[in-house]
Amino acid sequence: MRHRKWWEDAIIYQIYPRSFKDSNGDGIGDINGIIEKLDYIESLGVNTVWINPMILSNQQDNGYDVINYTKVDPLFGTEEDGERLIKELKNRGIKIIFDFPLNHTSDQHPWFKTALKSKDSPYRDYYLWAEAEEDRPYPNNWTAGFGGSAWSRVLNEDQYYLHLFMHSMPDLNWSHAPLRQEMAEVLNYWIEKGIDGFRLDAFIYMDIDQDFPEYPGEKGPGQEMNEHGNNIKDYLNEMNQAISHHEKEVFLVGEATSADADLTQWYTDQENDMVDKIITLQYFPENKEGMDRSVPESNQHLPLDPKKFKKVQKEFQEKGGADGGPILFWSNHDMPRSPHKYGNMATEHRDNSAKMMATLLYLQKGIPIIYNGEEIGMKNVAFGDPGNIADSGVMQFYQEAHQAGWKHKNIMHHINLTARDVSRGIMQWEDSEKVGFTDGVPWMLYNRESTYNVKDQEKDEDSILNFHRKLIELKKTELFQHGAYEMRETEETLYAYERTLDAQKALVYCNFSDKAETIDIGKEWHAQQIALQNAGNGLEDGKLRLSPYGAVVLVKK
Ligand code: GLC
Ligand code: CA
Repeated sequence: MRHRKWWEDAIIYQIYPRSFKDSNGDGIGDINGIIEKLDYIESLGVNTVWINPMILSNQQDNGYDVINYTKVDPLFGTEEDGERLIKELKNRGIKIIFDFPLNHTSDQHPWFKTALKSKDSPYRDYYLWAEAEEDRPYPNNWTAGFGGSAWSRVLNEDQYYLHLFMHSMPDLNWSHAPLRQEMAEVLNYWIEKGIDGFRLDAFIYMDIDQDFPEYPGEKGPGQEMNEHGNNIKDYLNEMNQAISHHEKEVFLVGEATSADADLTQWYTDQENDMVDKIITLQYFPENKEGMDRSVPESNQHLPLDPKKFKKVQKEFQEKGGADGGPILFWSNHDMPRSPHKYGNMATEHRDNSAKMMATLLYLQKGIPIIYNGEEIGMKNVAFGDPGNIADSGVMQFYQEAHQAGWKHKNIMHHINLTARDVSRGIMQWEDSEKVGFTDGVPWMLYNRESTYNVKDQEKDEDSILNFHRKLIELKKTELFQHGAYEMRETEETLYAYERTLDAQKALVYCNFSDKAETIDIGKEWHAQQIALQNAGNGLEDGKLRLSPYGAVVLVKK
């Protein structure tokens, strides 16, 4: 039998450390907070955690603007705390994936600070520089991901440095061999400490076209001009060699927001030795019919297009990753929590739709990533004012929408359903003043709700939390881990697929709408075969009744 890599059976829990659990009362989640909650994490049944960056950072972009790649940020704890976390997770048989922001550093990183001191500094080549022609304000017309030009001028110099995200996050120059070696050492440092894998943050921009060609038209995203470059393969091959990617089974999951199924296949082809899995944002095609074209698309809340969604899912099931299937996820720290968009937050539908969504996605072939809070059906936080959102694009959207005549309330409604900050609210551990997160003042907004918190859901056998536990148990069986996948043709509002492994067969049926449905699935299926379901469904004489947002999993042995 083919040797299976550990991560083919991974069920990942994503922890956003700032918002998970605060242990020392400063209002910011930390390492000891995560350690306090290890029993909880283990009780979910997950076998892997991915933690967003906790290394020393200037915290302009919550950890993604790194100052030191091998030092734990004191905001989160000490070196010893970090080691203890790794050890405690190991003791429980839980693997750990660290976030590796490799595309850029903070402008406070010693490499960049040294580079700024002189044009002859050896660190100059760690970054990317250009001059502007006399009559132009910037070297070219690229814009940065977080607003403004992708170039910033160095004080008292004629040179500009490149930053595809934020002006305080200069892009690294991966064409420079010493930088590549230094980065491989960083990974080896963490591998020796016991880290099992890395999420390669924004790796699709590693290969910058150093001719810096103009964006066609007046201006446009520098990210788009530099994504998926030809040299990425060489850079990653070299890195993988240096870290013994294969021998040590270091799991590499690359963040490739714009990768479609074909690109995902290319990146994850084991022969190409780049990454093992891809996290893409292409999973969630929107229906743009109702969009206001006079206002930027960025923060307009648009509904999911279920038809395209199924098509995309089908494609990724086929091409999204040979061994173990694609990454499966609904939410993360960069996008709003999905139930608002793909489920239904109305009281009567909230529980069923949260359970349906988990069933629909995670029992497919692939590796689930569950974003902390998702397992209790947490909702987004809501901002009253765009000025409080740490995302420059939001302010711009607000102004343009305002000019186009949108009312404040409507603008905030859209922002609160699209801005990435809204998913970063603190974890609802209990229904108390600070929801069990801290004794201090939480760094972030949060919701306090009865029912939608860990403590209340622990007590309820039918809670979203306990549903997730059962679902994860099911997911761990051979049928759902390695069985073949086939999507069934259904009408738009339904989603159905089969999993087969030898004589075993599973049928998963989900209802994407607020109307009940009855489907003839044939008499070979009967109620005793129901392995998991949410509320209000039924099966009689081969007729499956799905409640609004109903989900039923049938297994035949
Ligand atoms: C990734 C991270 C995001 C961060 C960005 C820049 O997309 O997920 O949070 O802001 O990279 O590092
Ligand atoms: Ca803290």
